[in-house]
Amino acid sequence: MPRSQVPKTIEWLGDRVRFVDQSKLPGELSIVETGDYRVVAAAIARLEVRGAPAIGVAAALGVALAGNASEATDAAAFGRDVETAARVLESTRPTAVNLRWAVGRMREALRRAGSSGPVAARAALVREAVAVLEEDRELCRSIGEHGAPLIADGDTVLTHCNAGSLATAGDGTALAVVYAAADAGKRVRVYADETRPLLQGARLTAWELGARGIDVTVLCDGAAASAMALGLVNKVIVGADRIAANGDVANKVGTLSVAIAAARHGIPFYVAAPYSTLDPAIETGAAIPIEERPAEEVALCGGRRVAPEGVRVWNPAFDVTPAGLVTAIVTDRGVFRPPYRTSLLAARPPSGP
Ligand code: MRU
Repeated sequence: MPRSQVPKTIEWLGDRVRFVDQSKLPGELSIVETGDYRVVAAAIARLEVRGAPAIGVAAALGVALAGNASEATDAAAFGRDVETAARVLESTRPTAVNLRWAVGRMREALRRAGSSGPVAARAALVREAVAVLEEDRELCRSIGEHGAPLIADGDTVLTHCNAGSLATAGDGTALAVVYAAADAGKRVRVYADETRPLLQGARLTAWELGARGIDVTVLCDGAAASAMALGLVNKVIVGADRIAANGDVANKVGTLSVAIAAARHGIPFYVAAPYSTLDPAIETGAAIPIEERPAEEVALCGGRRVAPEGVRVWNPAFDVTPAGLVTAIVTDRGVFRPPYRTSLLAARPPSGP
């Protein structure tokens, strides 16, 4: 499928949101259109829309939908309707800071609209949500541009989960780097960890890389260290859901194992994320809230039970990779190297974010 035919992960249609239901990929390309923020919230919770930047965009659009749907005739009642939706949307998933960041932007847009009344506030919310979406596309482009020089002609890059176009409104974060390197004429191959339990690597990364004509190989998560030991991969690039002030990185569970294996084999381990994934209020990764998901995701595979009925399951959706294992963090504001507390925070404008 040529690049132009890969469907947009999430779009604003003027009065509705359209998104790809990623839970059905790669078997079915199902597109959902809705004007109801509750449908958007449920889609985030069920990982129909997933990936840190994409859920931020979806939540912002969801708040705009709530504004459109409100029948309030005064600013206070309108504000209450919007706040109800904002709380529902931001409580869908705890780890990605993008969700709270995007909902925070919507709250701020509403505050700026002040007492101007529901008609003007509605329009302001739509404008802000569309800006969040369009900016995300631009951030992806910029991450790709900053990261592409890290990739050499002939590299084979290992990635974990999906940090591609399906996880953003644009070209992705980790995969934006791969796409930008390929666009620059470099031959680059990707090893995609399957990413248990929900198989974002096997289902989504392999699908979108294949659609974009990038050479991709899927491997079990447990084979990543062997791929490094055997010299099958020479770089790692992953995305991030939240980066603490000291550079610790929360990302899909299994990322930590990849980072440890990369350090053991002397392989660079890069993280690619929008600068807004940095949460300066969180000092270290220990304070990042890690989502725990239902036992069934682990006990069942493809709808079939693979663990004994009633067995205890631990299913954290994310883990934290210590900054010491991260070679560099690629963002829209440039490539940052250790010590991250100094380098990352120095790129903050005095007024944040
Ligand atoms: O549970 P998911 O699929 O939303 O987890 C996604 C990841 O961990 C991604 O690597 C991360 O959000 C970065 S996406 C650009």
